[in-house]
Amino acid sequence: MTDSGVRAERVVTSGTFSLDGETFDVDNNVWLIGDDAEVLVVDAAHDAAAITAAVAGRRVTAVVCTHGHDDHIGAAAELGDATGAPVLLHPADRELWDHVHPRRKPDGDLTDGQRLEVAGTEVRILHTPGHTWGSCSLHAPFLDAVFTGDTLFHGGPGATGRSCSDRPTIVASIRQRLLTLPGGTVVHTGHGQDTTIAAERAHVPAAE
Ligand SMILES: [Fe+2]
Repeated sequence: MTDSGVRAERVVTSGTFSLDGETFDVDNNVWLIGDDAEVLVVDAAHDAAAITAAVAGRRVTAVVCTHGHDDHIGAAAELGDATGAPVLLHPADRELWDHVHPRRKPDGDLTDGQRLEVAGTEVRILHTPGHTWGSCSLHAPFLDAVFTGDTLFHGGPGATGRSCSDRPTIVASIRQRLLTLPGGTVVHTGHGQDTTIAAERAHVPAAE
């Protein structure tokens, strides 16, 4: 937590991830960035009720989707509708979104370099394609943190073995956009435990 009370809170929700005809059980990290008055939600996964409980009456400024895989966006429409907050997604992942929410569009686009305000501070959107074409990370300098979705995990790059993904692209995104952040930057991931930029440098190949 900073002196201003701005902090990152984690909610773990459970459900399934389906792609390319296979379905897996998964736990997802939902991140709330904000203070006692308002929060920005990163990845409304699986369970809108659990996220709403964690929001605890605070104003939701936006529901940001790091990418369009169904495990990360399953509760985004419901949470957006319930709170009035705009649901934001990079347009390159719109096809993935439409498979999950065919009758409810996102409310706005994420774009590289975009700044989103919350609790008197800003997060900056980094387009980090590779896990999906529209994958984005959120850099929060005031927290010395970056929220990477499924692009960078504790242990290295996210998965690229399925459709709409590419290993050389994710490696380039991580090297150019994430490993260039200060080494002490905490990496809050879409699944599993935190890491740091410095710790992950050894887990990312020079180029592929
Ligand atoms: Fe994913």
